[in-house]
Amino acid sequence: MLSSLRSSAPRALRSFSSSSPALSAATLPALAHPYSAYEPAISAQIMEIHHSKHHATYVANLNAALEAAAVATAAGDAGALISLAPALRFNGGGHINHSLFWENLCPPGSSAGPGGDLLAEINAAFGGLDECKATFAARTIAVQGSGWGWIGWNPAARALEIATCKNQDPLQATTGLVPIVGIDVWEHAYYLQYKNVRPDYVKAVFDVIDWECAAKRLEAAKA
Ligand SMILES: [Fe+2]
Repeated sequence: MLSSLRSSAPRALRSFSSSSPALSAATLPALAHPYSAYEPAISAQIMEIHHSKHHATYVANLNAALEAAAVATAAGDAGALISLAPALRFNGGGHINHSLFWENLCPPGSSAGPGGDLLAEINAAFGGLDECKATFAARTIAVQGSGWGWIGWNPAARALEIATCKNQDPLQATTGLVPIVGIDVWEHAYYLQYKNVRPDYVKAVFDVIDWECAAKRLEAAKA
């Protein structure tokens, strides 16, 4: 978990104090644009609450768990470490997932769409962008309860795949797929604007996907 925290969200980490030099503390990453920049796909109110309240809470709870883990590690207390695993998974996953989510959002109309190698891989895996979106939407809308939808890179198969994860399970740590595009389908991500109509939110959120970010992630995943 700790290694994946470092590899997946390096810009949002800083070192703990000298009392726990082996661990890093999470910090809330700044968004690249104002909260209102993603309208009308995602309202400014949702963006502000989602980022400054929900993500901030994952960060605070993750840091509390990391500090407790540092104490348990120093004491050689395996039982205490095991008892912290659910909190590390949930809050660490929440921090990783949301950090990735903010990065792959951009204002409507500011992304040219997938091109080059990313488009070639989308075509190879799904038969086209529209087919990719349709499969992604069907899988993600069907997530029971809270979770995430992902386009991920399978390093073994050398191909893009669509996957879903429950709760805050982070894609790479729990499936081995490298995150390329992720969409949060917890109700807190859309309910204030879309009420219970998750399909409308999933359809609209493609208007604010930063495909240039996705292309960079794919390039890094393939390297
Ligand atoms: Fe969220």
